[in-house]
Amino acid sequence: HRDLTGIGRLERHEILFLLDEAEQWVELNRRRNKHHDALAGLTIINAFFENSTRTLLSFEIAGKRLGADVVNMHAAQSSVKKGETLIDTAITLNAMRADAIVIRHASSGATQLIADKVDCPVLNAGDGSHEHPTQALLDALALREALADRGDPSDDFTGLTVTICGDILHSRVARSNLLCLQALGATVRLCAPPALMPVGIAAMGAEVFHDFDAALRGADVVMMLRLQTERMEGQFIPSAREYHHLYGLTRERLDNAAPDALVMHPGPMNRGVEIDSDVADMIDRSIITRQVEMGVAIRMACLDVLTRGARGVEGWAE
Ligand code: CP
Repeated sequence: HRDLTGIGRLERHEILFLLDEAEQWVELNRRRNKHHDALAGLTIINAFFENSTRTLLSFEIAGKRLGADVVNMHAAQSSVKKGETLIDTAITLNAMRADAIVIRHASSGATQLIADKVDCPVLNAGDGSHEHPTQALLDALALREALADRGDPSDDFTGLTVTICGDILHSRVARSNLLCLQALGATVRLCAPPALMPVGIAAMGAEVFHDFDAALRGADVVMMLRLQTERMEGQFIPSAREYHHLYGLTRERLDNAAPDALVMHPGPMNRGVEIDSDVADMIDRSIITRQVEMGVAIRMACLDVLTRGARGVEGWAE
């Protein structure tokens, strides 16, 4: 079976295929009757070992809109609390004959570990600071649609400069977006305080900045990320005020970027820390709610495409 553990495992044409497949679900999701029976009879398990609003709900909605039976396993109420290992949990889910398993876990590599143990496709809903592939795919789709609305419909982001600013060190969203945006041709700038920038990230082809104003200069897209304080145990945590002063996106700061630059944020947002409310809510520039909308369509496309082999429908090569 084929899994979705990271953008790093996808070819450019596979990324574009998933974006194209999602378009039909964007349309379906805008209708009153949003039901389709592509996945009727399948069982999808969402196993979330970390908190989530957008990813969990959109995977659940995606599976249900496609007619599957969707079951959510919340780690806090599971036998993980009684000491069960991740591998034993995976074997248990497998024995229940799930047709797809969606995993969010605090450890980088947890999704791959489970994918190697089970018989069905595994989809990574975020593993530690490693990858969050469906987030990067939905971000690319939201960006592609926003550019199309402005009269620039293109699969190719060549010539586009995207500045990603925030806690890059702990961000699986930054890593997946770097890989995805680069695969689609964009130039990616990463900006963070020195302590929150991964060592060696420049080797992945990113332009590295610590000065936010410099990172913003001429950028076409600005993607803001929150401080992941839950991953900073024992580490110096900047105060919200200090962080906002240096790295918060304000209206004034946004003027350094290209005129009409688009603003993105994967959520959850900390308004007044990494992004000001008047920027997050800019009707003509912020595509944050569009990102959420695209999340459902992308997850429908991923569930559909990854289960095609088991359904006897022509899909991806193994
Ligand atoms: N963007 C994102 O992954 O949000 P959640 O943590 O709410 O799922």
